[in-house]
Amino acid sequence: MSGTTAQRRDITAAANQRRFRDLMSSFPTGVAVVTSVDAEGAPRGMTCSSLTSVTLEPPTLLVCLRRGSATLAAVNTCGSFAVNLLHADGQHTAELFAGPDPDRFARVYWRRSPAGLPHLTDDSIAVADCRVAGLLDVGDHTVVLGQVGVISRSDGTPLLYGLRRFAAWPHQ
Ligand SMILES: Cc1cc2nc3c(=O)[nH]c(=O)nc-3n(C[C@H](O)[C@H](O)[C@H](O)COP(=O)(O)O)c2cc1C
Repeated sequence: MSGTTAQRRDITAAANQRRFRDLMSSFPTGVAVVTSVDAEGAPRGMTCSSLTSVTLEPPTLLVCLRRGSATLAAVNTCGSFAVNLLHADGQHTAELFAGPDPDRFARVYWRRSPAGLPHLTDDSIAVADCRVAGLLDVGDHTVVLGQVGVISRSDGTPLLYGLRRFAAWPHQ
């Protein structure tokens, strides 16, 4: 038989990951950019589709952020974060905040909220400031619970992501 036990285990793990990615690609979501402030006071942010509502009382959501992420480190330090829900024209911003550009905030219009959190006002249909209410490490990600505070809303329809591509909300 060819291959070591460890090699066979790696191949099985890769196949399982591929099946899991396929599964989740069939579950379309909206697209958010999670933003916070790092220890030096600089804005940090990343594209995130793992946003989920958790409870109504108190209003709580969760995001799953990869461990080792600079944004997660900032959320940990700051104790709060903003969830910027991108509008249908926000694909470029979604790609920017998921890509290798080290200077993401230099390429978008943003301002600090009264709480000091970075808001991507031009790219969002809604922004919610959240206080970290819990953290749970699960494998290669950390589940971050956020208690929702101030919410601001604008006009527009949401950007969608599914089947490994972006889409706009269909016009009615
Ligand atoms: C549509 C989309 C959704 C994503 N959702 C998540 C997510 O929920 N959690 C996550 O950790 N990474 C997610 N990513 C990947 C991160 O945006 C990407 O790894 C980013 O570079 C992380 O930023 P950081 O290195 O500053 O932490 C997503 C990427 C895309 C394009």
